[in-house]
This record gives sequence, C-alpha cells and structure tokens, in this order.
Amino acid sequence: MTRRRLVAGNWKMHKTPEEAEVFVRAFLPLLRRDEPAEILLLPPFPSLDRAGRLLEGTAVVLGAQDLHPEISGAFTGGVSAGMLAACGCRYVLVGHSERRSLFGEDDILVNRKLRRALTAGLVPILCLGETLAERRAGETARRVAAQLAAGLDGVSSDDVERLVVAYEPIWAIGTGEAASAAAAEAVMAGIREAIGSAYGRPARDGVRILYGGSVTPENVGPFFAQSDVDGALVGGASLRPEALAGIVAAARPHGA
Ligand code: PGA
Repeated sequence: MTRRRLVAGNWKMHKTPEEAEVFVRAFLPLLRRDEPAEILLLPPFPSLDRAGRLLEGTAVVLGAQDLHPEISGAFTGGVSAGMLAACGCRYVLVGHSERRSLFGEDDILVNRKLRRALTAGLVPILCLGETLAERRAGETARRVAAQLAAGLDGVSSDDVERLVVAYEPIWAIGTGEAASAAAAEAVMAGIREAIGSAYGRPARDGVRILYGGSVTPENVGPFFAQSDVDGALVGGASLRPEALAGIVAAARPHGA
C-alpha cells in the first residue's frame, strides 16, 4: 500500500498573518526530520502568503479553505484557484460542511469548485458527512454516497486517483465528540468501494480518505490503525502547534 498519510490543519477563521507566523515558527521545530506523514496547513486567505513564504523549503505544504469556481472576473470577494496556486497552495478544501450549511453551497457548486481546482493543478479535498439526524435514521451511507457522486460528477478516473476525500460527520465537528475509529472506518471503506465501482481499481487504491471531526492527539491513535483512514483533517486542535505536532507524531504509515 503506497498511500502516504496526510495530516491537514484547517484553521478556519483564525490567525492573522502575524499569528500564522508565530504558529509556523513554533511548529516546525516540533517535527521530526523525516515525518512519514505529509503535513498540510490551511490558513485563511490573508495569511496564505506569509505562511507560504515561511513554509518554502520545509516538509509542510500549504492549502486553502475554499476557492471560487470561475477563473477570474467580476466576483467581488472571490478568490481564484490561480491566486491560490500563486501563493504556493497545493491543496484546497471544497464543500466543507460549514461552507455547505453557513454559506449555502450545494453539490453543484461544490462540483464546479472541485473541477476548477483540478484544472488549476490544485488537489481538491472533497468534504462529506452526515448530520446527526441522518445518522440516527440510518442514512449515513446513502448521504455520503450521494455527496460523493455529485461532488465527483464529470471528473476523470485519473483525477480521482490523486484527489483527497475527507469524511467529516457533521455531529463530530467542533463538538469534542469524535466518531469511533471503527465507525469511521466502516463509512470510509464504503467511500473507497464506491470510488472503485465508479472509477476503477487505481482510483480506489490511490484516493486518500481523511477522517475529520474533533481529532486530538489523545484520540487519533486508533484512527491510524485503520486501513482506509489515510489521515486526519483537524480543526480546533490544529490551532496549537504542540497539539498538531502530536497528531503528526501519531500518524504512522499504513501497515507499520
Ligand atoms: P474540528 O474541525 O477538528 O474542530 O472538529 C474539523 C473540521 O471542521 O475540519
């Protein structure tokens, strides 16, 4: 199994450029020389440039939390994929549940953003997850499959192979109540199977699937024992250098 684990820190609407610099300067010395996991920081837009300059030549890569689906134009407040790439971004989140619920993004917009990211050479991280009501109604697998199919509409197998999916049960985000590793693995194995059926074996084996939702250094260990968990998307705990470094330290390679 060659999938490299990925630990991504989603800062959401936290950290000015100055605060981002303080974080990066504290975080880098906490990492081992050859971390087995890939490490990704997702600062808010105004802090991307500063963080990106500080991360140049380090083992930590940069990404953004959102993008506009169009290339450029009269879209006040929009930020294009090209702008993100120019700031040094390699990854971008699409369809985070907060974008879906608080900013009204639907599957069609999420799919447009995802395809724009791919065209611009960014790796999209497609976020999926069910609400508590859906989970209680036994709708998790169906909900997640529907978001996956809609998000990947029109995407080639080659592109699916290199993208990242983040399974984030909405009831686990920011609540301190993570899913159990076994429950997450069951959903994530289903996501991988669905990708295999639709896009073939290389896509199934290549796509990386992250778990997100109240991940901490204390609870992350069992997730990294699961064969379909290729990493973690971390919100709250990623704001503290020691906590994020603790999660990175737990991210052993598959099979290790
Ligand atoms: P959390 O956020 O770790 O604070 O639950 C995860 C996310 O929203 O990506």
